[in-house]
Amino acid sequence: MHPPTGRPRPTAPARLALAALLVALPACGAGDGTLEEVDPGAAPAEPTYEEHIAPIMEDYCTACHAKDAGGEGGEVRYDTCEMVLRNWGSLVQTAFEEKTMPPPTAYTLPSADVLTLKRWKAGSHVCP
Ligand code: HEC
Repeated sequence: MHPPTGRPRPTAPARLALAALLVALPACGAGDGTLEEVDPGAAPAEPTYEEHIAPIMEDYCTACHAKDAGGEGGEVRYDTCEMVLRNWGSLVQTAFEEKTMPPPTAYTLPSADVLTLKRWKAGSHVCP
């Protein structure tokens, strides 16, 4: 008796097609495509403002969008919980959808952080 040979290996054309698909995906305008690939465990289940949201804003936004940022980011501020909630719509638009913030435009907020922000907003999102 021969041992089982296992699953047949994909043929070269099949592997090529798969590679082409993976390359093409981000160009499809799939919106949060990468967000679906992010490990759900990569973001806290119940994010809080002080522990999770404020550090993300500090890492990516408040250098330019804060009261003491010298007005670089205009009137838009993300340096307090109330400001994040008040400016939530513009945050989603620029950082999640258009991906124009933070500059330069090529730079995108990591998916795990986007998931954290979305979970916070979808959940209690109470300010301390
Ligand atoms: C390196 C500095 C810098 C960082 C970091 C930064 N921004 Fe900005 N942002 C700017 C500047 C400069 C403007 C343009 C202000 C103006 O035109 O009045 C701006 C404008 C905006 C606007 C106004 C709408 C628009 O498209 O012009 C929003 C909303 C915004 N930023 C959101 C964010 C968010 C959310 C983050 C973090 C994820 C972020 N920004 C990080 C510099 C920055």
